[in-house]
Amino acid sequence: MVTEPSEASGPSEPAATGTPAPARVLVASNRGPVSYTRHDDGTLEARRGGGGLVSGLSAIGSDDDAIWVCAALGEGDREAVRRTEGRLDPADTGGQRVRMLGIEPEVYAAAYNDVANSTLWFVHHMLYQTPLEPSFGPEFRERWAAYETYNRAFAEALAQEAAEGAAVLVQDYHLALVPGMLRALRPDLRIGHFSHTPWAPPEYFRLLPDDIAERLLLGLLGADRLGFLTRRWAGAFKECARAVLAGRGLTAHWPDDGAVDGGPPYLTCPRAGDGPADGRTYLAVHGLGADGDFLRERAHRPDVAERMVTLREQIGRTADGADRKTIVRVDRTELSKNIVRGLLAYRQFLLDHPEWRERVVHVAFAYPSRQDLAVYRDYTAEVRRTADAVNAELGTPGWTPVVLHVLDDFARSLAAYRLADVALVNPIRDGMNLVAKEIPVLSERACALVLSREAGACAELGEDALVVNPYDIGATADALHEALTMPAADRADRAKRLAAAATALPPQRWFLDQLEALRA
Ligand code: G6P
Repeated sequence: MVTEPSEASGPSEPAATGTPAPARVLVASNRGPVSYTRHDDGTLEARRGGGGLVSGLSAIGSDDDAIWVCAALGEGDREAVRRTEGRLDPADTGGQRVRMLGIEPEVYAAAYNDVANSTLWFVHHMLYQTPLEPSFGPEFRERWAAYETYNRAFAEALAQEAAEGAAVLVQDYHLALVPGMLRALRPDLRIGHFSHTPWAPPEYFRLLPDDIAERLLLGLLGADRLGFLTRRWAGAFKECARAVLAGRGLTAHWPDDGAVDGGPPYLTCPRAGDGPADGRTYLAVHGLGADGDFLRERAHRPDVAERMVTLREQIGRTADGADRKTIVRVDRTELSKNIVRGLLAYRQFLLDHPEWRERVVHVAFAYPSRQDLAVYRDYTAEVRRTADAVNAELGTPGWTPVVLHVLDDFARSLAAYRLADVALVNPIRDGMNLVAKEIPVLSERACALVLSREAGACAELGEDALVVNPYDIGATADALHEALTMPAADRADRAKRLAAAATALPPQRWFLDQLEALRA
């Protein structure tokens, strides 16, 4: 999804510290709702982030009973932690209670970059070039130890902050060990975990060293409830647990057809520590949707209108003065997003259908992500190279086939959404992909959606999208053609249904459903 960094708030003063009341609702995630930049004059500038979790959590408002525990990501954050003892000034957080953990930079880098993003992310998205990678030796073991330290810091902070019987919602692959660690510290708590990524099938998950695969699964099975974005990922988790934990007494209570909403499926596995001897963990699906109300309001502010004017100029018009069609994509430049094959599919489409040259523009926004990792930097460079090559090969003096932007601009993303005739969302694997849900909500041209069958969103949108195998450039090119030539009435009907399905479970409901289920 695209996210909006909100207005920066003013310089931060040290916050008053006292003994805060224990919290009844706790959320834990690596990235918190706010990040800090330190200026040369020593002041700190706070910037609130956007995204599904931030918006979901706003459902609990600035309730004093709720707290968000997150990690300091960079130097600015660490300085804020030093000045506030980790309890951020509510003026910076929109009133939310936030505890930020100042984890040692080396420990943090190893846990976040090396284990979470370079290993677990790769496993769940199946990104390795397996003839050469991964290989797990002593160096990896050191990084894994850092991942354990980082998870323990979260578990200890949560254990400190939680009131008796409180509900704790732990987020994502960064914190897979937290549920088990926290249960050992505080067996009274209700613990949920949500995976925002896909889950790997067992034969891929088992690339991980056996003991680490086991630790990850047992860590998660410390939770009372595990949430996933689709049935497919929940089912894959169950299969991994079966394959890896067969010798540890795991049993799976699962409806025969594997439907996770046809009765509550659960796994049981004897738990270490103080927990119940035969711990039951329910598996559930919560398909996060787009925040339709927010998007529609935000997309009609003046800054978006301004961006539309500029974008229209960049897109240009045909020789006879007609609007050019647009194929829009917006991604964080993650290795899983398949931007390069998307560009190659567009090129193939222009080669196969020269009649579309000068009549269509591919508007591709590829925003920087995880630039600390060389492989991400290389991929970003490849995206640029490919876009430049398509423009050099096929462009004409009055027509730039690909309009590529790589600097994050939320208002411009919304402008592109509004102008979309076709949305191209072709990840090789994706937990959900909220862009696939956001574009149909905002498109003013009743956009057609070309969607990868490997995106979680395909489970909900597949019937009205043009579904593609993301590796098949030829088939994707054909789908682009079909999208552009689809009869207007068919397109309009599909677009309406796409927008409805996309907004079926807005972030606040998504969050509250999980909280209610955990407390039930
Ligand atoms: C994507 C994934 C999330 C993940 C996030 C982390 O959005 O879908 O599962 O939590 O990346 O991104 P970050 O920028 O914090 O590494």
